[in-house]
Amino acid sequence: MAAERILVTGGTGYIGSHTAVELINAGYQVVIIDNLSNSSRDVIDGIERITGVRPDFVEGDCTDIDTLRRLFAEYPGIKGIINFAASKAVGESVKKPILYYRNNLDTLLNLLDLMADNGVKGIVFSSSCTVYGEPDVNPVTEQSPIKKATSPYGNTKQISEEIITDVIAAGAPFKSIILRYFNPVGAHPSAEIGELPNGVPQNLIPYLTQTAMGIREKLSVFGDDYNTPDGSCIRDYINVVDLAKAHVIAVRRMLDDASEAPIEIFNLGTGKGVSVLELINTFESATGVKVPHVITGRREGDIEKVWADPSYANNVLGWKAETPLADTLASAWNWQKRLRERGIM
Ligand code: WQD
Repeated sequence: MAAERILVTGGTGYIGSHTAVELINAGYQVVIIDNLSNSSRDVIDGIERITGVRPDFVEGDCTDIDTLRRLFAEYPGIKGIINFAASKAVGESVKKPILYYRNNLDTLLNLLDLMADNGVKGIVFSSSCTVYGEPDVNPVTEQSPIKKATSPYGNTKQISEEIITDVIAAGAPFKSIILRYFNPVGAHPSAEIGELPNGVPQNLIPYLTQTAMGIREKLSVFGDDYNTPDGSCIRDYINVVDLAKAHVIAVRRMLDDASEAPIEIFNLGTGKGVSVLELINTFESATGVKVPHVITGRREGDIEKVWADPSYANNVLGWKAETPLADTLASAWNWQKRLRERGIM
């Protein structure tokens, strides 16, 4: 049977590129569309260096439906879609809500609008633990209450899940699997691809590795006066390759019509909560590299503690986040060193 074709929107981004690698490794034909607003075309070369296969690539914006129409015509037979294409910086979303609602929602609406006419069987949607807000109880299950979003970014994820639900309830002839990520971190073990945010990193790990490399003077730990064992915030840091593998399982599940319902939702986390200070210590012991850091005030909008109960994904998808945090942080450091070797950073 010819390799099944999967469309990966936002596929030169951090999670998208790692997922493209795992899809190719699993024998799928991959078409990537990305507007390169937060990534670069070099990522396609990295994917090819890892897999020996160059994915098809379209530089384009998924908010333009004619761009997508042309893509479906150029690459017929797309069986599944994984939608990563979205703006994802919580702080930026507060400053630029229109950009976030337009980019994240128009992209999804365009994809859903074109799927039936193009025979696409299912869409995997990249959601986030952000939809839970500050959970009353940890660990968080898929039944944990959805709290009012604390940012336009988080709201776009909640609204997107509702859009998918309504479109499928209206009889759309396809399925969806919604994956709620906790905190994706790390890089491919080859150090050919990894997280490469534009400008000053908002997320902890890229800021930490850039500080370890001397690019940043010191890491600010945003508060140590939370109600946690060491006072710093707790998150569920999940290896990006483990996360990518869950997407391949989800695609297969939809294409095999194995889904138990038209929409399935899974938390993707390790099930272990780790504090910022614990993470810094783990990085230092895993790499032997010190991370100069200082305790500062809290960051507005930060959640105190959130980590996953991943048992539903473990049991139903047969998937588990396996990589130890120390190895994950070592992979992030190897990636940062590779960027230095290449003169990129
Ligand atoms: C992690 C922890 C900070 C930077 C967000 C989105 C989520 C997802 C991942 C897209 C927090 C602390 C951070 C720093 C710090 N986005 N921190 N100093 O906020 O948990 O999640 O990014 O997929 O949807 O909400 O991730 O990496 O920004 O922060 O102390 O310089 O590190 O306070 O406790 P966050 P993060």
